[in-house]
Amino acid sequence: MDPYQAVDHQPEAVLGAMIARLESRGEHPMFRGFIEEYLSAIRWDAVHQAVDLGCGTGVVTRLLARQAGSATRVLGVDLSEKLLEAARGLARAERIEWCCASADALPMEDNSADLAILHTLMSHVPEPGAVLREVHRVLRPGGRAVIFDADYASATFGLADFERGRQLDLKLFSAIVAHLDVCRQLPGLIAGAGLKLTDFRPHVIAEAGHGDFWLSSVRGFEKLIPALGILPEEEGRAWTQELLARHEAGAFFASGNYYTFTAEKPGNAG
Ligand SMILES: C[S@@+](CC[C@H](N)C(=O)[O-])C[C@H]1O[C@@H](n2cnc3c(N)ncnc32)[C@H](O)[C@@H]1O
Repeated sequence: MDPYQAVDHQPEAVLGAMIARLESRGEHPMFRGFIEEYLSAIRWDAVHQAVDLGCGTGVVTRLLARQAGSATRVLGVDLSEKLLEAARGLARAERIEWCCASADALPMEDNSADLAILHTLMSHVPEPGAVLREVHRVLRPGGRAVIFDADYASATFGLADFERGRQLDLKLFSAIVAHLDVCRQLPGLIAGAGLKLTDFRPHVIAEAGHGDFWLSSVRGFEKLIPALGILPEEEGRAWTQELLARHEAGAFFASGNYYTFTAEKPGNAG
């Protein structure tokens, strides 16, 4: 099972690795740039209620609250009480309400939100279509959903042995993500939920020589591999050591594709 579907039941080592990874990738200039790009396209005067679904430690929720004016209510929703506890501690000056709920059963009125953000949530939920139908229900006509996710099916760490690398990419990402290919399904899922795709942006984070964004992912996997039993101990250690050695030698390579989908609930524009 995808550990992000049951964060509160994970051992402390897994929870710690998740929090560290979410916060460190949120600080990475490229990753943060993608968030800032979609937030800067929002007309805040038309947003009275914004909701960040699957907010985790609140990386996007905090940025959103800083950009929105004081007239915008900001709600962060997550299934994990433990991540919400971390989110409350990390958000200081920002005015944010937090709520523990599943994104497919939101304690929100119909047509009550102007903006919903789903930042790397869809790849983790059991039924992405059900979440989008719930987003459709809570958005007002003309309201927007921004869905950002990774195509984990093509994310890769370069190893000396290509075939081994390909198998390990798949094993590692399958152990932490329910839907490796969700971005390929999103156009159909968005339309199926009654939403209209209005904008689409592809992004890539690739590193050659020394790692940074992907090195923090390697460090995360270093903890997750034994804690979740993803690979036999020896194989996991060999994977980590090869990538750390390649980084030290300036021979590191890793790459992943991310996408931002913007969708609108048809009806009166606001
Ligand atoms: C990869 S994290 C992304 C966190 C945050 N959006 C970010 O990008 O930093 C996925 C988040 O989705 C949450 N989650 C998983 N299933 C959920 C569901 N059904 N409803 C709400 N949140 C869920 C997890 O607890 C976790 O915080």
